[in-house]
This record gives sequence, C-alpha cells and structure tokens, in this order.
Amino acid sequence: MKVIKSIAEICEILSKLREEGKTIGLVPTMGALHQGHVSLVERSVQETDVTVVSIFVNPTQFNNPDDLKTYPRTLEKDLKLLLKASANLVFAPSENEMYPQPDTRIFKFGHLDQVMEGKNRPGHFNGVAQIVSRLFEIVNPHKAYFGQKDFQQVAVIKQMVNQLNLPVEIVPCPIIREEDGLAMSSRNMLLTPLQRKNVPLISQTLFKARNFVSEISVSELKKWVIDQINANSCLEVEYFHIVDDTTLESIQDWDQPNIKVGCITVQVGDVRLIDNIIF
Ligand code: PAJ
Repeated sequence: MKVIKSIAEICEILSKLREEGKTIGLVPTMGALHQGHVSLVERSVQETDVTVVSIFVNPTQFNNPDDLKTYPRTLEKDLKLLLKASANLVFAPSENEMYPQPDTRIFKFGHLDQVMEGKNRPGHFNGVAQIVSRLFEIVNPHKAYFGQKDFQQVAVIKQMVNQLNLPVEIVPCPIIREEDGLAMSSRNMLLTPLQRKNVPLISQTLFKARNFVSEISVSELKKWVIDQINANSCLEVEYFHIVDDTTLESIQDWDQPNIKVGCITVQVGDVRLIDNIIF
C-alpha cells in the first residue's frame, strides 16, 4: 500500500494503471476510520482492480469552525486499518495541495440540499460537492463507494455526477452498526461514557418505528420517534423526516410507491449524530 500526498504523483500512477486496463475504485473519507469505512474499502477491493482511499478533512464542508477543529485525526491508525483491508493507494493531500486557491464553485441541487442536513448546515453539501468532484477529477475512478449512513450525501453526489456528466458509477453501501445498534461514526469517539451509554436509543427507536409503518399515520409516527428520543435527557432531536429516497421530499402517507426513509439528526451535547432507516 502506497501513501501519496501529491496530486501529480497519484495522477501519474493511476494513468499507468488505467493504460494497463485496470479498473479503479475510490473511497473518499475524512479519516478517523472505523468498520463503516472499512466495509466500503472491502467492497471496492472485491469489485475493482485498484482501490484508492482518500483521507482529507475537507474544510469547505464544515460550517462550524469548532466542529472542524475537534474532528478526530488518527492517520497512523487509519493506515493500519487500510493495509489490513487491502487498499492499494492512500491519497492524503494537504489543504494547500487540494485548494491552492479557494474553491468558489457554487453547485445547485435544488430541493436536495435545502432540506435536512442542507438546511441545518448551510453550505455543507456545496463543500462536499467541491471536494468530491475534485477527487473524481484527480482519481478518475470507474466506481466510487459511499455509505448510506449519509443518505442525503449519496443523493446529492448522484445528482452532481448527473449534472457534470461524469463517467463514474456511484455505489451506495449499507450502514454498519455497533453491536448495540449505534451507527458507526468518527464522531462517536467524541461522546462521553454517559452519552455513549444513551445514544443506542436513537437506532433502537428507529428499528421499533419500522413495526408501526402503515399502522399509524406518518405524522403520528414522526411524533412518536421524536418523543421517545427526547425523553432521554442526553439527547435532543434536531429533525426527523420521512422522505422519498430519491427526491428527498417529505412523504405525507404510506401509500406512495417509492422507497421511504426515516432520516434523523440528534444533538448529544456538542456532538451531532445522524442515522436513518429504510421503511
Ligand atoms: P466520512 O464521514 O469520513 O465518511 C466517508 C464515507 O464512509 C462516507 O461515504 C460515509 O457515508 C461512509 N460511512 C461512514 N460511517 C459509515 C457507517 N457506519 N456505515 C457505512 N458507511 C459509513 O462522508 C464523508 O466523510 C465526507 O463528506 C466525504 C464524502 C469524504 C467528502 O469530504
């Protein structure tokens, strides 16, 4: 496994591999890796010849400077995990390498980035699109792997790929959870022991909610989920929306044919956790 910091070097290596007819898989990450990330790497290793993992804490997608400052950085440990998962290339550029000049591009995703995370973190998805499009330009992968834990991110990236007409297949991968159901996240390590004890209530409530689908109305179910979680003094629901999986429009009743997803964000002290469930 080779760790590369320069754009010129990775472009050179990848263009040779492409000439040899190798397929390239990209797993974009911000590091602080866990089994959720590893599952994406393993999928890419299975499906492509060369797996590139990028590690870059992208400043343009953070709308809260404290969140950027406290975001965990664990490069040595990350590299060990990636070696074990059989990644081939790790691209870990500096901020100056990725953004020698400020990226001023503005993407328009319409409704997709005006709801949920987009509404609560203005500019977040524009920053995600800036970095992911830049990584696609550099790596030019055949396939790119994203976790469904960030459900809205997958919808936005698919739209970006359509808008820019990029020749890359976006592969959404299932959420990996801890044994107690908590969705794995780099932010989980920022929780205090007491918070960590209480956060499994989030996914447990979503799992229970699945049993009520079609038995109570959409608005009753939403209220039930929010009340269950808010009853715990460590947790405060920022939003819980039940949306169509592609348009991310809120659904009003259970009869519509598309896939419905319950998306939640919960504030736990200073830490924001997101999760979702497909109904
Ligand atoms: P990051 O939060 O590091 O996540 C990298 C990838 O891992 C994302 O596609 C995310 O959805 C996936 N992932 C995280 N936790 C997961 C879990 N529990 N199960 C399955 N997949 C999981 O998402 C980002 O970074 C950034 O926005 C990025 C796309 C790298 C752009 O900067």
